[in-house]
Amino acid sequence: MNRRTFIKFAAVSVATLMTGCSVDKKSLDVKFLRQIVTKDISTSRCIMWQAEEPLKNPVVEVKTGDAIKTFPAQETSFTYDGKKTIQYTAQIEIGDEYRVVDGDATSYWYDIKKSSDDKFKIIIFPDSQCGGGSYDTWGGIAGSALAKNSDAVLFVNVGDLVDNGEDSSQWEDWLAYVEQFTPEIVFAPVLGNHETYSREWTVCPPVAYLNYFATPDNGVENFSRRFYSFDVGAAHFVVLDSQWDELGTEVIDVQKNWLRQDLNSTDKLWKIIFIHKDVLQYRINGRPERKEGFSDVGEIFMPEFESLGVDVVFTAHLHTYRNRGRIKNFHHDDTGPLYILTGISGNVRYGGLWIDHALDKVVAPQPETDNYITMEVDAKTLTVKCFSPNGRPIDEITLQKT
Ligand SMILES: [Fe+2]
Repeated sequence: MNRRTFIKFAAVSVATLMTGCSVDKKSLDVKFLRQIVTKDISTSRCIMWQAEEPLKNPVVEVKTGDAIKTFPAQETSFTYDGKKTIQYTAQIEIGDEYRVVDGDATSYWYDIKKSSDDKFKIIIFPDSQCGGGSYDTWGGIAGSALAKNSDAVLFVNVGDLVDNGEDSSQWEDWLAYVEQFTPEIVFAPVLGNHETYSREWTVCPPVAYLNYFATPDNGVENFSRRFYSFDVGAAHFVVLDSQWDELGTEVIDVQKNWLRQDLNSTDKLWKIIFIHKDVLQYRINGRPERKEGFSDVGEIFMPEFESLGVDVVFTAHLHTYRNRGRIKNFHHDDTGPLYILTGISGNVRYGGLWIDHALDKVVAPQPETDNYITMEVDAKTLTVKCFSPNGRPIDEITLQKT
């Protein structure tokens, strides 16, 4: 609950008392309440939360003006890291506000922010994985960015949310640090390689990631929700899975075919990609045998992005911010997609590791701080801005449609 919502709830309670009606609802503790992205956030949202014990008959109420509609919540549980987690998921239609109700107990009312074809803003966070047992760094930058951009309708994390995908304490920490924001801003996650790491640091299915975030199931069966797409305003977003080294190479061709189908069937003006692993290969200090070039992700997908009319590609994984400008046929070209390597929003730093690539146009000042990115989109312009944690501008790029 944020302060504004608390004041609103308190005001409603006082007004109810003053009109003589009894306040017969008890406060419902809703842990890690969050809005997860749906195929089209202008019409629907996915509401999720955790519970210590099963609830009796939980529903989500959506208020539009004076009308209230009720949507059932489905209970599921999953076990990882030796712990059972009980959670609830409700698919709701859009309205002005929503709250969770279970019998005579209720949560606060939370806003449902609307996206608009005219203009919308999202926040993009790079890898938030943290070492050393604390997610303070993630909490600091996420808190700063989300508070400074309360007009944003959605935020993305471009993969490697946590350091170890099977460590329940890391997921709890990650969620706790954004819990005051997630009831009112939509979240779109991207699968990273660290989501596939077990407690023993072997590879395992990303159970926690897939269960915590019930993203749209519009990818391909057998790869359920590892990749998906969604619409916001005038933009179509595609979230891809680059974890074939970890989870098997079958996903490459399946995903390529799906991507062509998906992008060819959208009529949205802007086409945006999020994929965790980067498209370039960097030389590495101390490893002279490693050559500059393109990663397998780049070789496989950059020609697809070009031919499918993608406008912007956001990548992560290397923990450094780089703006490469627009690239086509593996060279700078103002008709190709814009490629942004998003940086770092956790504390795992690779300072001095990478040697600048010939395609890098803007590199964050070294040694790097954490950073976050905003993207504002309307029918004519798309503006990407990169900021340090305190909001100091690092970079800005604008694309124009005629
Ligand atoms: Fe990674």
